[in-house]
Amino acid sequence: MISREKSFDLLNKYVKGVSLIHHCKMVAFAMQVYAKQLNKNSNEIDEWWTAGLLHDLDWEMYPDEHPNKAITSILPPLGYSAEIIEAIKAHAPERTGKKPESEMERYLFACDELSGFMHAVSLMRPTGFVGMKPKSVTKKLKTVNFAANVAREDIRAGAELIGKDLNEHILFLINVFQEPIS
Ligand SMILES: [Fe+2]
Ligand SMILES: [Fe+2]
Repeated sequence: MISREKSFDLLNKYVKGVSLIHHCKMVAFAMQVYAKQLNKNSNEIDEWWTAGLLHDLDWEMYPDEHPNKAITSILPPLGYSAEIIEAIKAHAPERTGKKPESEMERYLFACDELSGFMHAVSLMRPTGFVGMKPKSVTKKLKTVNFAANVAREDIRAGAELIGKDLNEHILFLINVFQEPIS
């Protein structure tokens, strides 16, 4: 397993934008907490975290090729596992043709867009994630002009893929993001 430090260095090499790095850390953290909840072992927890951290690795430098550049040319030579690479591939099925199937793939898909959306919601609130209710999020989901670039269908499909009610998934992530991201 490649160390977290090395994966962070890799992320910083390819991504300069502070908000994209923050998004990657949020998704990594969400993946880690879900992996723990699912009783994964420590190696698996690291894998889930790493898939979250690196899922948008090539977005800034290769927006047109994302995530194909990362999964074909950047990650394999560095020794990242097939599970991580497949999960990154499956977070963008419309670009790669791969649908989320394995548990890690489904959770990554389910955490990605929703984390981004919830971050946008947190920025509108003086207390951020603290005191946020699932309703604060679902209300905004119905507001077409709010974070208009976020695909609502992907958020709904994500919750379905992990067999959760959307409100339950949102509540889980509110609790995750109230903690300092590590
Ligand atoms: Fe992406
Ligand atoms: Fe993302």
